[in-house]
Formats: sequence, C-alpha cells, structure tokens
Amino acid sequence: MAILKVARIGHPVLRCPAEPLPREEIAAPATQRLIDDMLETMAEYDGVGLAGPQVHVSRRLVVYGVAANRRYPDAPAIPLTVLVNPRITPVGDEREDDMEGCLSIPELRGTVPRWARLEVEALGRNGEPLRYPAEGFHARILQHEVDHLDGKVYRAAALRSQTRGLSVRDGRSGARSVRARSACPRRFPAVGS
Ligand code: NI
Repeated sequence: MAILKVARIGHPVLRCPAEPLPREEIAAPATQRLIDDMLETMAEYDGVGLAGPQVHVSRRLVVYGVAANRRYPDAPAIPLTVLVNPRITPVGDEREDDMEGCLSIPELRGTVPRWARLEVEALGRNGEPLRYPAEGFHARILQHEVDHLDGKVYRAAALRSQTRGLSVRDGRSGARSVRARSACPRRFPAVGS
C-alpha cells in the first residue's frame, strides 16, 4: 500500500469529468491496489471521502467512511465503503446547510447546501451491485465525492448556491449536467499506468 499524492485545487484533473471504470477492470490488481492506496491515503490525511480525480486518476471511483475523525469530530460513524461508478438520486426536496472541507483545498471550510436524503447506486470493490439510502452527513459526503467525479469542487458549489441555487438534476439518473471543459485532455492515464 502507498500514500498517494493528493491533487490540490488548480490542478486540471479536479476540473474534468471522470470516466466510468469498466466493470471488468474492477478486479484487476492495479484497480484493487489503487482502492487500497486510496483508503490508506484517506486515513493518512483524516479524510472522510476521497475520489479518483483527487489522486490523479480520472475514473469514477470513490472511497469514504468515518471512524473517530479529528477533522470532523462530531460526525457519525460510517463504515469504510468503496463505490465504483456511483449514481446518486435525491429523495424528497429537503436540503441542509452544513460545513464541509476537502483534502484538495486544505485549511478551508465552507457552508454548502446539500440534499438531506438520497439513494445511492453503485458497484462495490468486488463488482457487486450496491443500492442503499443515505441521509445527513452520509448523504453530504456522497454528494461531495460525486461532485469530484463530475469535475466540481465544493467551493464552486458553495459559490453557485449563493448565486443561483444548486444545479438541476435529472430525475432518472440523478446525474447533473456537466459542461465539457476545453482544458480537459481527452483521456487521463488508465488505472495502474
Ligand atoms: Ni473533496
């Protein structure tokens, strides 16, 4: 296992929509090693979530979980979870404001409105289908990490919410529209390269 370098705000990999991870690549040793390294990296920096682009891998892969956490001392415990190609769909229309931070923007916290409840669909680290509800801080983490997969960082989300509200999700998939960014390379390196 290894501690990975975390991309900081300003790096283009954080601004580019990540590509799905093909199901057949999940079991590959390089992918499994990456997942282990992401879990270790998240623990090393006291994170509660980490997305592929944050470790310079532009794939739709997220790890998250909360044990006793110095950065979020009041957060509820959430088991360590690995999500491949997660999709989130808001349930109801309640939103909550709360503080959040990001390992890619050290030393900064901001209030971000998030859906209070959502449904998650994803594959797990063994390719197994996952589907479950999440609420509160758990739902907040998921929205933050899926934003990373969509090339968004929470500061931008906070600004957007002040000016024109959260962007509209499509009810079928929960996916938000993503603007193509001309600065994005056609492909970032594949997992393990
Ligand atoms: Ni983040």
